[in-house]
Amino acid sequence: MMKLESYVRNIPDFPKKGVSYKDITPLLLDPDAMRLAVKLFMQNLPHTNIDKVVGIESRGFFFATLLAEKLNAGFIPVRKPGKLPHRTHTENYDLEYGSDTLEIHEDAIKKGEKVLLHDDVLATGGTAAATCKLIEKCGGEIVQCSFLVELEFLHGAEKIKNYGVSSLIKYS
Ligand code: PRP
Ligand code: MG
Repeated sequence: MMKLESYVRNIPDFPKKGVSYKDITPLLLDPDAMRLAVKLFMQNLPHTNIDKVVGIESRGFFFATLLAEKLNAGFIPVRKPGKLPHRTHTENYDLEYGSDTLEIHEDAIKKGEKVLLHDDVLATGGTAAATCKLIEKCGGEIVQCSFLVELEFLHGAEKIKNYGVSSLIKYS
């Protein structure tokens, strides 16, 4: 049986010493592995209608658009600052050193719409938690936060524990 884990490559000491980077590009190279990932994402979703899929720049975009198409839902890019051309909501979040910002178009979600958040990796959870706030500022209702990879030892799921969290590959 095909195992998704075998398509994720460990890169030691990237981007800095002591960090083991999870490289998902081998998975993206293989259409069978991509199809399997999409199938598993779909199986893990709650049985509810989904209006919009939010993907987080940049690695969240890979699967979020595929999921949106499968779900017959709209796709929304959450982007790094200054990239979205129309009026935006903005959320700052803390990193290990310093802080970062994410933005969403104010009119991307209608009040009460059901939203799936997707990103490639859940690490400390700062990125996902900031994106949840952006979705809620727009009036969206988050039905699930879905990730390809979860680094459980960083406890990111605790930052988004008010929502359903699902990940296909876990490292503990
Ligand atoms: C990585 C990853 C997630 C985020 C997870 O993105 O793709 O989006 O970090 O980290 P966190 O849970 O600790 O917030 P990165 O900011 O490196 O940008 P990229 O997707 O553009 O490569
Ligand atoms: Mg990212």
